[in-house]
Amino acid sequence: MSKSHPVDENAEILSLYWDNDRLYFLDQTLLPVDVVREEQTSIEQVWDSIKKLKVRGAPAIGVAGAYGLYIGARSHAGLSIEEFMGKLQEMAVYLNSSRPTAVNLSWGLKRMTSVAESSASTGSSTAQVIERLKEEAEAIHQQDQELCRAIGETGRPLIKDGMGVQTHCNAGGLATSALGTATAPMYLAHRQGVSFKVYVDETRPLLQGARLTSWELLRAGVDVTLICDNMAASLMASGKVDLIIVGTDRVAANGDVANKIGTYGLAILAKHFGIPFYVACPSSTVDLNTATGDAIPIEERNSEEVTSFGGRQTGPEDVNVWNPAFDVTPAEHVTGIISEKGILRAPYSEKLINLFRGL
Ligand code: MRU
Repeated sequence: MSKSHPVDENAEILSLYWDNDRLYFLDQTLLPVDVVREEQTSIEQVWDSIKKLKVRGAPAIGVAGAYGLYIGARSHAGLSIEEFMGKLQEMAVYLNSSRPTAVNLSWGLKRMTSVAESSASTGSSTAQVIERLKEEAEAIHQQDQELCRAIGETGRPLIKDGMGVQTHCNAGGLATSALGTATAPMYLAHRQGVSFKVYVDETRPLLQGARLTSWELLRAGVDVTLICDNMAASLMASGKVDLIIVGTDRVAANGDVANKIGTYGLAILAKHFGIPFYVACPSSTVDLNTATGDAIPIEERNSEEVTSFGGRQTGPEDVNVWNPAFDVTPAEHVTGIISEKGILRAPYSEKLINLFRGL
């Protein structure tokens, strides 16, 4: 039976906590009202937490999936190595079925199954492979923190005194293991004393911008203003926005980017108003196996997310609903991709290959 624990008000807020071989997720569905972390004791619970967005955001679900696979693996310590390796593949497919769009999940799971395969191929026992899986999940977690910092350092010079910076959804610390992707340049600029404002779109239907981004930026002392999604054009027309930075769930090989629904509209508006539109992400979000954005699987979620608001029904129960969780912004609208290795600019294909290969 898993337990929920309130998080101390002054403690560092993290999306995931790995403590003494135990995994906890901050339950992001309860924010910003309750700050509670919930222990994850089984692979089924991790699957459910990813599906229900208790843990969410592309890099964070990559790390969550890796730990989830380790948790699943250690419950099969009694199997022979052959049986165990079959079970591990099954569990990876199962975890990967929780959400389809963010490629970080399958990236993390592939990394885990690959280290298990190479460990097993050198004659390791089931117990030794499980230990190796734990080390790999910890390494993925640690690297995600380092990648966020590197993205922050790359993007930080884009933010100058007096600027207004707009973002969409939550590509913050809550979507990763640390500083976030889109927010990492903002956190570093803020810590270095740059004076700027952040405008956060509330991000219907699930309000990740309102509930998560504005909450975490405010907590860090950043000057943040929350707007409804339909205010974006007016805000830009008023001259208050100098720069837009968003995150992404998957970058196709040609530079098309999938991100939270509404991002595409923001990019078109940015082009209209001549505002630079940047996408921040680590190399683990690049999917060279997907040629263009058309091939990115877009998650469709429950109609109730659209027909209700704050737990109250706001649309007719029987109305037809279309509820894609993500959209794809064509590369031509992206001013640059802020990565751990620098800012990539169009044409993207070759630069993305180099980034993914760590060059
Ligand atoms: O449905 P969510 O909340 O997981 O969507 C998250 C986003 O769209 C983020 O912008 C994206 O994952 C980038 S996170 C650094």
